[in-house]
Amino acid sequence: MMRWSPFLGIPIFLALLSFFLFNFPSSKFPTNHPLPRLFTAEELALYNGTDPQLPILLGILGSVFDVSKGKSHYGAGGGYNHFSGRDASRAFVSGNFTGDGLTDNLHGLSSTEVKSIVEWRDFYSRTYIFVGKLVGRYYDAEGNPTKYLKGVEVKAARGAQLLEKQKKEEAKVVSCNSRWSQEEGSEVWCDEGYPRLVQRPVEIAITGKMSKRCACFKEDELGQAGLEVYDGCDYLAKTCRL
Ligand code: HEM
Repeated sequence: MMRWSPFLGIPIFLALLSFFLFNFPSSKFPTNHPLPRLFTAEELALYNGTDPQLPILLGILGSVFDVSKGKSHYGAGGGYNHFSGRDASRAFVSGNFTGDGLTDNLHGLSSTEVKSIVEWRDFYSRTYIFVGKLVGRYYDAEGNPTKYLKGVEVKAARGAQLLEKQKKEEAKVVSCNSRWSQEEGSEVWCDEGYPRLVQRPVEIAITGKMSKRCACFKEDELGQAGLEVYDGCDYLAKTCRL
């Protein structure tokens, strides 16, 4: 008959332990937080930090998070209390925390602004506990994403593509160095080439506005269309005071 060795127990114990840790990491164990649920706007409004017995909840793109651990920002009197008890998604990019600014309507925002709101939602997912969905613009009464939420995700993805394209385009032409001091004011200069003002690529698609940056061009490139010499700066100056 085979005898049980006490030394055999140790590897078996370790194998069982690693099996359980691998298959049931702590994140899979239920927490004492209630399961995600659906909220109406009226219900969510109760959790705005005024009742100390209730958690503080914040909605963004229809996802609801418990932000009680950020009470100093989100509680009564906190700088970001306006975000509590509602979905004020638009205010995350507009910075308008009053009246009409506190809305979940993103109409007219650019794709990169919408992307930035989606990133705020990612921030809340990473930092706080997801507790449910707000029935309304972004989730229907069954908790399914609405057309509006799907549109937001698509627009944010388009914003990400545009920013990526801009990054690639801008990398093709070296940006000027720049510095500012009280005595000298601002100046731009190039280590190689000459400073020119140029329209930022893709910027109109991103923000709907024109915007220029300083980039460095070699002498044989200076004839290209769209290059602007800084006011008061010589054609072949390496440094320009602004
Ligand atoms: C569109 C404008 C802005 C929005 C939407 C915004 C939003 C927020 C939010 C939601 C938080 C809390 C993050 C958390 O839960 O930990 C936060 C934190 C913070 N914000 Fe803003 N913010 C804005 C502008 C500003 C400006 C202009 C300043 C400074 C001049 C500022 C300074 C801070 C600081 C210092 C914190 C961290 C506070 C701390 O951890 O104690 N924010 N911001």
